[in-house]
Amino acid sequence: MKNKHVDIFANHTIGKLTLKNRLAVAPMTRVSGKADGTAGPLMKDYYQAFAKGGFGLIITEGLYPDKHYSQGYKFQPGLTDEAQAKSWQPIVDAVHRSGSLFIAQLMHAGALSQYNKYTGSNAGPSAVKPLGQEMTFYYGNGDYSTPKAMDKEDINDVINGFVNAAKLAKYAGFDGVEIHGANGYLLDQFITVHTNERTDEYGGKLLKRLRIYEEVITSIREAVGDDFTIGIRFSQGKVNDFEYKWPAKDEDAKSTFEFVAKCGVDYIHTTEYNAKDPAFGKGLSLAELAKKHGGVSVIANGSIVNENDAKQILDNNQADVIAVGKMALANPDWPNVIKHNQPLQEFNFEMFNPLADLKTANAFLAKNT
Ligand SMILES: Cc1cc2nc3c(=O)[nH]c(=O)nc-3n(C[C@H](O)[C@H](O)[C@H](O)COP(=O)(O)O)c2cc1C
Repeated sequence: MKNKHVDIFANHTIGKLTLKNRLAVAPMTRVSGKADGTAGPLMKDYYQAFAKGGFGLIITEGLYPDKHYSQGYKFQPGLTDEAQAKSWQPIVDAVHRSGSLFIAQLMHAGALSQYNKYTGSNAGPSAVKPLGQEMTFYYGNGDYSTPKAMDKEDINDVINGFVNAAKLAKYAGFDGVEIHGANGYLLDQFITVHTNERTDEYGGKLLKRLRIYEEVITSIREAVGDDFTIGIRFSQGKVNDFEYKWPAKDEDAKSTFEFVAKCGVDYIHTTEYNAKDPAFGKGLSLAELAKKHGGVSVIANGSIVNENDAKQILDNNQADVIAVGKMALANPDWPNVIKHNQPLQEFNFEMFNPLADLKTANAFLAKNT
């Protein structure tokens, strides 16, 4: 149904969770953990500020789920053992106390890993050197290295890692997990034709390239039960290939969203450069396609700056919830600002210079607000 009025501040239920409003914080890597993968000292205040600022849901930065090939960045936090899980408990408690739900994003970097303290090397679906250059604001430099092609044992490690991390997220008190299936990281490398040259059961036609998604989703569901929320994130663009589009367009969107919904996710989170734009030049946005074909709750993300952007998406039934990224960094209280008709601060990329970490951002904010 088009053009109904949706109250931004009304409840919405995703799976077994009831969000107090339609507003979420998008997952953002901030490379501010400790070297052992536990949460760092600046992270509690950082996440709690979004909760105090009125967001109904916060999605964490991507956490690496295993001690094999999943870590992407130096000082990225992980969710692979009890110490790492326990380090999140005070953050989860603070976020809950301040009134938000909290979902852990689980991210396997695959071929895009820029640093791995466990293996010191990369693995992906196939030995294909990634396009583009490493991100310097995450301690990277120069070309990506060519990954080794994962064998069956490596793929089992990936699935077991996601399952273990989801159990640890539950143990830490999170309200759910979001599987990072987007932005060019490992799972996305499996669905993307030029990074997946496999001829086994994980390569070939789209449904075979999606097989690892099925194994990850259904294995997590079996481990955490029906009450724990599971979401999945999709994008067309990648951090190392912004312009990438799904080759069979609507057909790929239909197959992908129908497939993951059938596997048992509670929500689909889509991210595009601009959430409102048609996914393939004309027609529906990626979020609308997820709603149409997935039949589960949809979170839309990308260039949502102000209340008007949020309203357009929600009133046109393009998504159920909107997720704000960079504008939430400039305005951790974005929902409260909107509610009280106050002016928003603009986002400034200087906040990430030279590193996209919390120390750099806090110094920037102290000087500029
Ligand atoms: C510093 C930074 C870190 C990010 N890290 C992640 C991440 O860990 N996982 C993820 O799915 N997306 C990540 N993203 C992408 C955002 O979630 C979001 O899709 C993107 O910023 C576009 O939304 P926006 O226009 O509201 O900023 C990151 C973005 C930024 C700016």
